[in-house]
Amino acid sequence: MIIIAIDGPAATGKSTTAKIVAEKLGFTYLDTGAMYRCVTLAVINAEINISDTDQINNLLNDLNIDLVDYEGNLQIMMNGIDVSDDIRSVDVTDNVSAVSALKNIRVAMVKIQRKFAYKTNCVMEGRDIGTVVFPDAKFKFYLFANTQVRAQRRQRDLLALGEKKPIHELVEDIQRRDAYDSSRELSPLTKAEDAIEIDTTDLTIDEQVSKIIEIVNKK
Ligand code: DC
Repeated sequence: MIIIAIDGPAATGKSTTAKIVAEKLGFTYLDTGAMYRCVTLAVINAEINISDTDQINNLLNDLNIDLVDYEGNLQIMMNGIDVSDDIRSVDVTDNVSAVSALKNIRVAMVKIQRKFAYKTNCVMEGRDIGTVVFPDAKFKFYLFANTQVRAQRRQRDLLALGEKKPIHELVEDIQRRDAYDSSRELSPLTKAEDAIEIDTTDLTIDEQVSKIIEIVNKK
């Protein structure tokens, strides 16, 4: 099966780009950040202390995450409930880096991700797809952008959910999350040596998509 890995920090346009690339190529789209967000929501709901490994393991055993295509949109289902909006909340965003740094959680998510790509060609988007999950992926892209521009994008996304946050706070959030995601011990956010870098600061989503499709079609 063909895998297109798209990695990079938050708010670089990864999700939207990956989704459209998948649609255009007839591939399945998998947003792995949504999976880590789902676990984080479950941890918050169950009021679990993340240093309690037994509780985390119990939670993982009882957790069923499904990503389903619903009228062209990816719907995130947690134990049968649609949590697509809930996983984008400020609370989940503030806690997801710490939760996604836990070994047992990463092992469980990577297992699901590998199984997924066994059945279908896919565009998989995240932080460690080209480095850890599929180091042999046929195509690897690494998206990045200026922090101020990323904060503006994040602000727009939050407003769409009815949440307001000033730009300076969003810049700090992004910097904190980048630092955490890049410095964690397990599968830190880093560019795979053979990934193609795309600076999305001044690019529209259409331009990002075209760049990727062009490279894929050339091979
Ligand atoms: O892409 P996102 O902002 O929705 O991702 C949320 C968090 O999940 C991000 O801060 C780091 C984590 N993540 C990860 O550790 N590994 C992935 N493959 C995808 C996301």
